[in-house]
Amino acid sequence: MKGIVLAGGSGSRLYPVTKVYSKQLTLIYDKPLIYYPLSVLMLAGIREILIISDKQTVPLYKKLFDDGSHLGLKVKYAVQKAPNGIAEAFIIGEKFIGKDSVTLILGDNIFYGSLEFLYKGISSNSGATIFGYQVRDPQRYGIVEFNNEGRAISIEEKPKTPKSQFAVPGIYIYNNEVVRIAKSLKPSARGELEITDVNKEYLNRGNLQVEKIGRGIAWLDTGTPEALLKASNFFGLIEERQGLKVACLEEIAYYKKFIDKKKFTKLISEMPNSVYRDYLNNLLKMDIH
Ligand code: G1P
Repeated sequence: MKGIVLAGGSGSRLYPVTKVYSKQLTLIYDKPLIYYPLSVLMLAGIREILIISDKQTVPLYKKLFDDGSHLGLKVKYAVQKAPNGIAEAFIIGEKFIGKDSVTLILGDNIFYGSLEFLYKGISSNSGATIFGYQVRDPQRYGIVEFNNEGRAISIEEKPKTPKSQFAVPGIYIYNNEVVRIAKSLKPSARGELEITDVNKEYLNRGNLQVEKIGRGIAWLDTGTPEALLKASNFFGLIEERQGLKVACLEEIAYYKKFIDKKKFTKLISEMPNSVYRDYLNNLLKMDIH
């Protein structure tokens, strides 16, 4: 299973920061936004990851993650020349995906809580597996409609009159067919290759699984300054309370045994003095392995 983090988009709602870099580098409490989706892929055991962003931000991601080997990952990078839509990720990532299946996560999507839904989805996927999450404002998302047996019967992108309150979050699991499907798409009215059209194609083929995510999971939006502030406060609160960090990539790499103690120690020694370093040093002392 390969992983893609799509961290592009125009980010116009976060201007002027997005004049300089893509919004997935903005800070959510104590770490860049992209750490959160990346941590989700890592927790799902995905170690070969392609980060797609715009031309001016890719070098910054490279600075942040390099080739990923310090985290026991293989990280590659690709440029999306213009915000041509989420489904373009599979065309850009064709070579990277190769003959594998792929999980795509949007670089601005944050999931917090038990990721059992994802682990199950990955292990049982045969065509496409996506999720449904109840929201108050369904007009803003891809919306899935279920029949009485709980099977998905329609998906619509940002419908004016939504058929349900179940939004499709930005995490998608696909078999290798997705590359061919993405290539066959026509741009939508807003000029994008829509991920919803990919999902509709799987639905038409009878090969789409949609699982509801329970209310115990937080799926947070990060599209606006207000949403960013709320997300920061949310994670600030959790981290303060528990003394545990959320989406701390080095910690996850160590816990998941992607890196051994020696590598972990080296990693910490290369960090500047910071709360982040103190936290990792503490883990080392507790000797969790
Ligand atoms: C995209 C998708 C939409 C999905 C959403 C999740 O919307 O098109 O189907 O529900 O991500 O974050 P965007 O916000 O990129 O327009």
